Amino acid sequence: MSRPARIAFIGCGMIAGEYARTLAASSEVTLAACADANRDAAVAFARQHHVPRVADMADLLDPAATDIAAVLTPPASHAPIAHAAIRAGIPGVYVEKPLATSPSQARDLTQAAAKAGVLLGAAPDTILATPTQTARAAIEAGVLGRIVAASANYLTPGPERWHPRPEPFHAAEAGPLADMGPYYLTSLTYLLGLIECVVGASTDSQLYRTIRAGPRAGQVFTAGAPTHVTALLRTANAATITFTASFDLAGTLSPHLEIHGSKATITLPDPNFHAGEVQIRMAGDRHWQPLPPTTPAITPVGRGMGILALADVLQGRQSAFACTGQSAAHVTSVIDTIYRAAAAASTTALHVS
Ligand SMILES: NC(=O)c1ccc[n+]([C@@H]2O[C@H](COP(=O)([O-])OP(=O)(O)OC[C@H]3O[C@@H](n4cnc5c(N)ncnc54)[C@H](O)[C@@H]3O)[C@@H](O)[C@H]2O)c1
Repeated sequence: MSRPARIAFIGCGMIAGEYARTLAASSEVTLAACADANRDAAVAFARQHHVPRVADMADLLDPAATDIAAVLTPPASHAPIAHAAIRAGIPGVYVEKPLATSPSQARDLTQAAAKAGVLLGAAPDTILATPTQTARAAIEAGVLGRIVAASANYLTPGPERWHPRPEPFHAAEAGPLADMGPYYLTSLTYLLGLIECVVGASTDSQLYRTIRAGPRAGQVFTAGAPTHVTALLRTANAATITFTASFDLAGTLSPHLEIHGSKATITLPDPNFHAGEVQIRMAGDRHWQPLPPTTPAITPVGRGMGILALADVLQGRQSAFACTGQSAAHVTSVIDTIYRAAAAASTTALHVS
């Protein structure tokens, strides 16, 4: 395939704009069509981003016109839309996070894609950018020595501080763990390998939430998912990880991600973004210093890099890519297991005498 890969967006909301800007800066792909359950949204999006075709779903999922379908809708519709794209024979399907809302749904999706010979990719693609690539190069070169432990912290006062419609962030299938956990857990598994076992604890210390921004400021709603979750994870390589995801805390000075090896510790910037500095402190040193950044293999940098990586594989420029459906399915399982472990801990935890 020498022409640019033809991308079709399904879902033309907030995040689709970021993708469109990244893809527009690449000559390897072209944003050929878009669809949305709200056709007016698709029409407005097409006008703003110069998309030549607004289609309904049936027309969009035509392998004669689409090489990669990008599923950018809310989480509950990810799996059904991705299945429809796989059934239609679209060669590449890329899904925003979370890949699916349950481990069995994620497994069905990866199996259907494998059976159909479809390349399934999934967000987040921040692991392809400089910070995570820099950390991975240092780990692979042995700069950190043997990996002993890691910690990850997403500690915030919740989206109702800034978002005028924050209820979906607190829905039963969301909460801080399911909504933001994919960024942290995808980085951790990319850097440290698969997670093998899990201990969890959660609270809903602030069940009633007050909207602080926009025309509905002052209105109160009820959170449907735990608002503060802590997990202790162990990787297949026996590194231990602590991860806390919270919508209940005023703030923190803890780093987003910290990885400790026998020879050095590194800290990474926010894994929700594609930029920032990685710092290292060697055992015995008194100071932190920046790690020399690794140039990302894929440009332009930004949300949508995962689609560029998928196009590279489909068009034979690369043989493998990191943002796989399988990795995303593993993260879906880890999140589900943390919730189950937290629920079980309320009855099985050892009580201090
Ligand atoms: N907004 C963000 O900051 C952000 C950041 C990273 C990832 N994401 C992820 O991106 C995805 C989309 O989030 P968003 O913020 O863009 O949402 P959004 O609500 O702004 O947009 C979603 C769009 O999808 C359309 N849609 C809904 N169901 C559909 C269906 N069945 N078929 C076709 N179109 C449908 C809606 O009409 C809407 O236009 C979510 O999975 C979210 O987790 C969002």
